[in-house]
Amino acid sequence: MWLVSELVELWRRLTSRRLVLFGPSLALSELIPHEGFGPDSLPYPLKRPETLPTFSGTAALARAIEALRLAAGERILCPAYNCGHELEPFLRADLELVFYRVDEHLCVDLGDLRTRLDGGVRAVLVTHYFGFAQPIEEIRELCDQYGVLLIEDCAHAFLSDRGGRPLGSLGDVAVFSVRKSLPLPDGGLLRRAAPEVATRDDAAGSVGAVASQKQGAESLTAPPLAATLGKTLDLWQKHMMLPGSRWRLVWTRAALGLALPLLLLRRLLSRFRVPSAVAWYDPDDEDYAFDVRILSWGMSAVSSRLLERMDYAEVRRRRRANYMRLAEQLRVLPDALIFEQLPPGTCPLVLPLRLARRDAVALRLYERGVTVGVWWDEFHHAVPWRVHPEAVALKASMLALPVHQDLEAADIDRMAREVLAACAAESGDVSLSGGASETRGAVQGCATASLPAVCE
Ligand SMILES: Cc1ncc(COP(=O)(O)O)c(C=O)c1O
Repeated sequence: MWLVSELVELWRRLTSRRLVLFGPSLALSELIPHEGFGPDSLPYPLKRPETLPTFSGTAALARAIEALRLAAGERILCPAYNCGHELEPFLRADLELVFYRVDEHLCVDLGDLRTRLDGGVRAVLVTHYFGFAQPIEEIRELCDQYGVLLIEDCAHAFLSDRGGRPLGSLGDVAVFSVRKSLPLPDGGLLRRAAPEVATRDDAAGSVGAVASQKQGAESLTAPPLAATLGKTLDLWQKHMMLPGSRWRLVWTRAALGLALPLLLLRRLLSRFRVPSAVAWYDPDDEDYAFDVRILSWGMSAVSSRLLERMDYAEVRRRRRANYMRLAEQLRVLPDALIFEQLPPGTCPLVLPLRLARRDAVALRLYERGVTVGVWWDEFHHAVPWRVHPEAVALKASMLALPVHQDLEAADIDRMAREVLAACAAESGDVSLSGGASETRGAVQGCATASLPAVCE
């Protein structure tokens, strides 16, 4: 029965013309070397000698712990609003975690952070949620004042800067999860060592630079081929679903013959948690009990190669344009937008919305072929949730809408209409689905209580 429903789901995905997908896809032709390809420069922190390519952001955090020589029993301050995955490397290194407050606008509460910075703290982890900058200069100052190390979590913030300075360049170390913003089978980065002043796009980067970042990479093992292949196929499968895909029919048939058995096997292995499933490990697996071996995996050759070929200016431009277009149409939802403005240097990962009836809205959107993210709805056991009500409220209400580089204006407009219609249906206010601004205030049942605009 399960197999049948999986087959039906895959068939639906492969044949539907109206899907808005959550992440960007990969054309396999990108993997074939050709002349004149590759950006003239690679963005921060790629190509820098102090940058270590890893399998994932989580693996980069494990290497950060090593690079900073954090020892068992030492205390680390972490944001109460977290996905939980970023906590695991610290917990597995037997560090003591203490949580500081993040407010409902996703801003670090500097007052609360200061009260927790006493002599026992060794490092502070700061997350730039969705690519939007935290007040990182103030946090750096605080850390310097107390002699504490700063770890910047830029898992969502690759290609983002603040005032021309890239996010991830002020911490003692910074971690990135490039696989989240780009169509890569895997990929994290650890930026180690004291940074000099950096610019967002490093001048004169060169093809071959990513793969040659070997400093420290010797201690990492290559991820299993099956994991790389499985995820590359997933990304390719997504590409076949793009409405404009010229080869759609050909690919669909080829996929049924070739990719389907592999995809099914992969789902089967992870479903039944077969011990060898680590060979097929999917970095999007949200289970906190992941195999410790993934923490010492490096970046696959496929991801290293692809990183040298991306049009980063276009990725940034598209994500920003999509965000602004979507935000403009969703302003009619009172207080649902967390970041109403898009600061000049921000490269958004998604557009986060706060909705009281988040889960019901998400279900309606899935049914309409709009893939959204019910964001971080899992509660990691290490966090004392009852003393962090803001974090709990964020976990209960956050919906992430895609704004990635594959989406075009027509996709954004359709998504906006579908979101408004879903909110209207949930709040009982049918006029909202027409997007009329006079309905503002009439959908309080769907949007949340008042939220000011931005963090920056
Ligand atoms: C804020 C944050 N940091 C770190 C990570 C870990 O990155 P990865 O999924 O690449 O291991 C995640 C992943 O969800 C995250 O959201």
